[in-house]
Amino acid sequence: MISDVSEMTNAGCVQFCPAFGETTANIAKMVGFIENADLDLIVFPELATSGYEFKNRDEAFELALELDNGAEIAQFKNLSADTDTVLVFGFAERSGEKVYNSSALIEPDGSVTVYRKIHLFDQEKFRFDPGDRPPEVKSTKVGRIGMLICFDWIFPEVTRKLALDGAQLICHPSNLVLDLCQKSMFARSVENCVFTLTCNRTGTENRAGRELTFTGGSQILSTRGKTLAVASAEGEEVISAAIEPKVTDDKNLTSNNHILKDRRPEFYKGLE
Ligand code: ACM
Repeated sequence: MISDVSEMTNAGCVQFCPAFGETTANIAKMVGFIENADLDLIVFPELATSGYEFKNRDEAFELALELDNGAEIAQFKNLSADTDTVLVFGFAERSGEKVYNSSALIEPDGSVTVYRKIHLFDQEKFRFDPGDRPPEVKSTKVGRIGMLICFDWIFPEVTRKLALDGAQLICHPSNLVLDLCQKSMFARSVENCVFTLTCNRTGTENRAGRELTFTGGSQILSTRGKTLAVASAEGEEVISAAIEPKVTDDKNLTSNNHILKDRRPEFYKGLE
């Protein structure tokens, strides 16, 4: 059993509009938010360092960051240590000949955990390699964190697996273009008794022959689906809430219903 290390966590989402291809400027903007936020945990959107609408795989590859060889990840590690803040952000990740739509979890002690998006959305299938490993739960100073990236929300199996593995906080960097996710995260939070932090971006990108408008509305939901903080549809905003990760460990909805132990998997065979 992974132990709890935190009582209260000041957790936030930085909703902003990355400029496509402007990695240096996007990172500078993220640094400014981190330095001024005074939070224990900060979640940024999906592909926060690069923007979203790559014309093709080559462009994604070119704008991707390398985990071990780049100054960028090192910069976030230093910043996490200097501000004692746990950071989660989406980025395009280059690894050998592969390019992934990834999320980094960076802790003040210098550790880096990466999740590679396993459910690619629409044109992403032509720009990225699909994630090649299962999502994991990382015990941090602010609680046990599991990551989803955007479209993963529509596969409830992912959040369920993270909850079964002990996740307390689901950090969910997103670039949402539909209006379905935010309402659905109510169910992900309640059915797993976890906090969910969906950090979306704002703005419009007009590239690759189509215009995409991102829907904002970043939100932090409680284990009972209560909206603890929510951002507007269009603004660049930091939202935050004081949350107590250990409340997620009581999975009893009533005195006779434990939401994980009451499952009857023998009747749901065939989900694979
Ligand atoms: C999405 O997965 N970016 C919609």
